Amino acid sequence: MKQIPILFLLGLGCLATGADQPASQTAAVHDTSDGLALTPPMGWYPWNQFGEAQDEDLIKSIADAMVKSGMRDAGYGFVGPDEGICFARAADGRLTTVLKRYPSGLRGLGDYIHGLGLKYALYTDAGTRTCSKGMPGTKGHESDDMRSFADWRCDYVKIDWCNAEGMNEGVSYQRLYQAQRATGRPIVHSACSWGDGKPWTGWGAASSHLWRTTSDVCVPGKIDWNNAMKIAFFNQALYQSAGPGYWNDPDMLIVGMPDMTDARNRTIFSLWCIMASPLIAGNNVCSMTPATLAVLTNMEAIGVNQDPLGIQGHVIRSGDGISVWAGKRLYDGSQTVVLCNQQAAPAEVKVSRAELGLDESATLFVRDLWQHQTTGPLPKDISLTVPAGDVAMLRIAATNAFPIPPIISTDTYRLSLKASGTAPQSLAANLTARTAGTDALPLWKVRPNLPPWLTVNVTQNGKCQTFSHTVNTAGLKQGAYHAIVRADNTEPRSNKPLSALYYDVDLEIPQDVGQK
Ligand code: GLA
Repeated sequence: MKQIPILFLLGLGCLATGADQPASQTAAVHDTSDGLALTPPMGWYPWNQFGEAQDEDLIKSIADAMVKSGMRDAGYGFVGPDEGICFARAADGRLTTVLKRYPSGLRGLGDYIHGLGLKYALYTDAGTRTCSKGMPGTKGHESDDMRSFADWRCDYVKIDWCNAEGMNEGVSYQRLYQAQRATGRPIVHSACSWGDGKPWTGWGAASSHLWRTTSDVCVPGKIDWNNAMKIAFFNQALYQSAGPGYWNDPDMLIVGMPDMTDARNRTIFSLWCIMASPLIAGNNVCSMTPATLAVLTNMEAIGVNQDPLGIQGHVIRSGDGISVWAGKRLYDGSQTVVLCNQQAAPAEVKVSRAELGLDESATLFVRDLWQHQTTGPLPKDISLTVPAGDVAMLRIAATNAFPIPPIISTDTYRLSLKASGTAPQSLAANLTARTAGTDALPLWKVRPNLPPWLTVNVTQNGKCQTFSHTVNTAGLKQGAYHAIVRADNTEPRSNKPLSALYYDVDLEIPQDVGQK
């Protein structure tokens, strides 16, 4: 495990846990035109719980459980194998699926995941081999490998940094990013150099949608609580280098893993939410307890994480095991505060209006995001007894309304149509997108660059919007047709764009079709 430097906080005074200077943070340059990951990515990856013990059955059963448990509808979209020994390099240099473990092929697994309304995540490495050396890395094969990932219909790729001796992080990740973009498939790019090369100093934002800031949060199957807290403290100090489309990533969640108590689950989840960290669950979703599910699907906490402004909160005061996390203004003008008590006894924690940048006379309503209760208007400062080893996660506003921003899920990400006969046909298929937020959403706008055989019309019914597709087969030659549809939307309070909604439409034409 790499040593984590001790921190000095920028901005709000000297608060953290040690001595070293932080690495400088540079104003990030990130091209958001792809509309990807404009709020922190949410999903599930197998590594923290399963290590390399991954195969198609595991990924499919987790994906099924994500739908059944409500995790998908709570926003957890990305799922797929990590270092699960899923591809090899053939003699011609191309990647091929390890069919023994993934009998449907990596494209088949992607289709299954998309059919559930989930997005497909895969893993590779920028060096010569992956960390276990069980899979080939991309070095020297960047374009071909990114082409394979696009052909497999991947939506998110985590790119590790093992066996990369002598390589430069910024240059290598940029090369992969360009290769990936050249494929034309929109793919979220997750750089995993564990903070090596200091991605927060600029190259991370230029080449990725998220980048790991630290070494691993745990070894597979076994949490290390002190390490997780150190990682949180290291990551929070980098708050100035993240924003919509480019995120600091303190690693996957350990919520629900063995040795995680309810208090620890709440603590990690609250810290990851206030830090606008990617929420990539790492537990066994198939066998999680109702208490774990309740933490992972706390929509009030997720609403903080998925706030359209994308501000990363940070520690404003700490000492003796008590820390106060704030600095996360939300889209409705409210803000979030986490009071974290890592002492062995309950502690009374106070936060003044001044510490939150509020006027002494400001009206304060306080929403407890774990108790789901509002108090206020508060006459004085905030003062709460936080149980030992636990947190209070609060949202503070001038009124007692606490809206939840848009959190989007769909019933599928792949429509598959097949014509029959030689006479022209009109085929139809629907996709439904839903928001778990409390505000009404404007209609999604479909980009007009559709192929001539496809038209899409969007209608609204409360929190759901239906994308109705009409496929006109007239004049199409025998073959397989494919379109990637992109729809955009804007969050009305903040006027910030939502992450673009992308999905695949496949059309099979078994015989040439005549004109009308
Ligand atoms: C690195 C990454 C982990 C995981 C393993 C796989 O350690 O940081 O998240 O992907 O590799 O070997």
